[in-house]
Amino acid sequence: MKDDQLPGQRRCATGNRYALPQILVHWLVVLLVLAQVWTSGGIGRSHADHIAGIEPASYDLLLHELHTFGGLAIFGLVVLRILMRLVFGAPSAPRNVHRFIQMLAVANHLALYAVLLALPAIGLLARYIDFDIFGPVHVALTRLLLVLVAAHIAAALWHMLIRRDAVVSRMLPG
Ligand code: HEM
Ligand code: HEM
Repeated sequence: MKDDQLPGQRRCATGNRYALPQILVHWLVVLLVLAQVWTSGGIGRSHADHIAGIEPASYDLLLHELHTFGGLAIFGLVVLRILMRLVFGAPSAPRNVHRFIQMLAVANHLALYAVLLALPAIGLLARYIDFDIFGPVHVALTRLLLVLVAAHIAAALWHMLIRRDAVVSRMLPG
């Protein structure tokens, strides 16, 4: 292992950038996570209608189903990402980034993977096993995801605008 690399980081088979399938799946998951936020609105409305004794709108029920399938798709794509990560690796950090910052980045990525796997699993438990117990856990995990993604985007902006290094471009095709 080179001295600027942490465990789990190694030069990609495709050079010092992510492989194209890794890049495509990264951005597909971003789009699907945004779609999950949108479809979750249908869950809240259909539950409110149900409690009020009103028949939920079929549009909201459709969003409900899309939320379930979108979540399962994210789960599958995250498993695929982890497998690709094991096969292709990840580019090493730029040389002069402090080791503590590198460790924060690794922790952020690991936590993102863990939350993206836990959210669909807990979501299924909330929908099919016990809404009162698992619903609040699912909602709490969505807040944790928000914090992790905010930190992730802040780090991307730091690389792009302040350090002006190539970290963001290696997650872009081309
Ligand atoms: C990574 C995948 C997922 C993401 C990002 C996600 C995101 C969200 C969001 C943002 C909410 C709204 C939280 C709020 O009320 O403020 C929500 C609610 C909910 N989601 Fe998901 N979700 C995912 C997967 C799933 C799956 C697979 C299911 C299973 C069927 C599911 C079931 C639910 C349920 C039942 C609620 C309502 C919880 C409640 O109001 O207590 N989710 N989800
Ligand atoms: C839902 C939103 C997002 C999620 C869940 C997410 C998740 C992840 C994960 C898990 C990794 C680690 C890849 C690995 O090495 O295995 C990663 C890397 C990366 N992401 Fe995101 N990401 C999101 C949004 C974004 C956004 C909006 C940007 C750009 C502004 C971005 C830029 C990057 C970059 C540049 C890397 C590579 C970092 C490096 O090489 O050290 N991501 N992302």
